[in-house]
Amino acid sequence: MSDPGLDVATAAVGGSDPFESHFLMKTYGPRRVCFLRGEGARLYDDSDREYIDFLAGIAVVSLGHSNSMINNVLIEQSKKLWHVSNYFYNENAGRLAKAIDEKIASESNGRVFFCNSGAEANEAAIKLARRWGGADRFEIVAMRQGFHGRTMGALAATGQFSKKLPFLPMLEGFTHVEFGDIAALRAAIGPNTAAVLLEPIQGEAGVIDPPPDYLDQVEEVCRETGVLLILDEVQTGLCRTGKWFAFQHSSISPDIVLLAKALGNGIPIGAIWAKEAVAGAFQAGDHGSTFGGGALATAVGLCVVNEMERLGIADAANRSSSILRDSLMRIGLVKSLSGRGLLIGVELTKPVAAKFVSLALEYGLVLSHTGPQRLRLAPPLVITPDEIAKGIAIFERVANEFG
Ligand SMILES: Cc1ncc(COP(=O)(O)O)c(C=O)c1O
Repeated sequence: MSDPGLDVATAAVGGSDPFESHFLMKTYGPRRVCFLRGEGARLYDDSDREYIDFLAGIAVVSLGHSNSMINNVLIEQSKKLWHVSNYFYNENAGRLAKAIDEKIASESNGRVFFCNSGAEANEAAIKLARRWGGADRFEIVAMRQGFHGRTMGALAATGQFSKKLPFLPMLEGFTHVEFGDIAALRAAIGPNTAAVLLEPIQGEAGVIDPPPDYLDQVEEVCRETGVLLILDEVQTGLCRTGKWFAFQHSSISPDIVLLAKALGNGIPIGAIWAKEAVAGAFQAGDHGSTFGGGALATAVGLCVVNEMERLGIADAANRSSSILRDSLMRIGLVKSLSGRGLLIGVELTKPVAAKFVSLALEYGLVLSHTGPQRLRLAPPLVITPDEIAKGIAIFERVANEFG
């Protein structure tokens, strides 16, 4: 699962503990495999056994493991400068902000704040929406089953009650409506609403697609009511769905877009982009981050965006998606597919997803499940046809075991 807190790919095997994992808090289940290196869409464990990676570090390592361009940028930047604080300009941050702005908006019209994770991007968005809304408009309407992170604000925005229950009371000011129900959204917006927050495709919930035209309708409601439209593209952004951003499959123009995951290809970085008029609500001192926008992470982020552009990675994702989807649909255990590009939800005919993931790992394929009957595939966008074929062969072998 993208949110690894409940990932059953890491089911317990018991016995010895060669990796001293008992020193780690038990926020994740016990893990079975220790990967020591990776290359493209392949991973190698501590016995140098090869695995095909259909997960990409949970939709993070889009340009592949050990990408040489990114490695070089990281090494070169590490020799020059790591960190100086946000009291000073960092040339990489401005350049990366410009590159993100150009990819999000057809006419450059936004500003970016850098942070370190998806949850932090959501926290910044909640604060920006409240600052923009003023004293009266502080409420955010989000979606049931939506996922926005584990920090307290992002958790309040999250629409999965089981994740919140142990940590009540939540931050106030959030309402949740059914993803896809436009009438419910309209009814939930009131005089105190500042923003609507949603994922264009619900990743954690199981790669759930919105109904056709839903995003256009959401935008229409936001414009009619004068509230902000915030899209959490932490999982779907940066070519994952076959466009730079998932919202670009429709014709909408969000006010705020949230990024993280693939932006650093594994280096922690998050970002919140907002239209100039909205971004202007933040005054000096309103928000900050010690590490956010640091020289190393933004150098890597800039390299990621440039490489994605140079390699035409959105088109590559679409090509690989067709191969992968065609192959999956030929497998008996597969009932239906969801998602776009290389964010693929697989509904199985039987509730065996957790066991499927465990067995696949045993046979050398890394993937995750998002529910009893749902798998989620999010391979590196640079995965090759040969790697897809190898991964599918393992997938088929596992599927055959479940008859
Ligand atoms: C849509 C979405 N938003 C936010 C997050 C939280 O990101 P992070 O784990 O980097 O805090 C995730 C993580 O899976 C996500 O999928």
